[in-house]
Amino acid sequence: MRITYYGHSCFLVEVNHKKILFDPFISPNPLAKHINVNSINPDYILLSHAHEDHIADALFIAKKTNAKIISNWEICMWANKNGITNFHPMNIGGKIKLDFGNVKIVNAIHSSSFPDGTYGGNPMGFVIETSDKNFYYAGDTALTEDMKLIGDYRQVDFSFLPIGDNFTMSVDNAIIATDFLKCNKVIGMHYNTFDLIKIDEQEAIQKFTRSGKELILISIGNTIEL
Ligand code: NI
Ligand code: MN
Repeated sequence: MRITYYGHSCFLVEVNHKKILFDPFISPNPLAKHINVNSINPDYILLSHAHEDHIADALFIAKKTNAKIISNWEICMWANKNGITNFHPMNIGGKIKLDFGNVKIVNAIHSSSFPDGTYGGNPMGFVIETSDKNFYYAGDTALTEDMKLIGDYRQVDFSFLPIGDNFTMSVDNAIIATDFLKCNKVIGMHYNTFDLIKIDEQEAIQKFTRSGKELILISIGNTIEL
């Protein structure tokens, strides 16, 4: 499984010869100026909620690549209104089988409105099961005991968790989340993009290590293999 970081909460996961893009916020991100949005060719775009810092480049990439958007009903209807016809609406609790594996939608404790203020449905996380590895992409969320359900439902090999605090979980909360999830390997997201979510990266990594856990912080534009 190959994972490329495009900044903020945006990752491209390549598994079973398919490319899955999460929460594209690239062209407005000052930390991701060196990323060429035109070079990203996903098969699927998964959107966790309607906030600008998660959907900014979604329509552009979907139109250019014909990638299928997978999100809640409200976000899929917004995409459809904007000319996208390849989408699959879901909601929390639902699961679908796709050609790379299964996608299950789980709860996130957050809000979800479009930049113009209209309702964006409930915010979500994704549990992805594949023949290679299983993982959890939390989206924007607070620490919640619902994460215990994920740990009981499926062995996840790693989790994408927000660590920037202020709008989401903090580093300390993410460490507690790893116990709920029964998963000690975390890829950090939703940090450093804005002043309000600046963290000390070395301190964060050390906190995880001291707890017997692993925090992976990928440089923007870099790819890792898990
Ligand atoms: Ni948000
Ligand atoms: Mn956000």
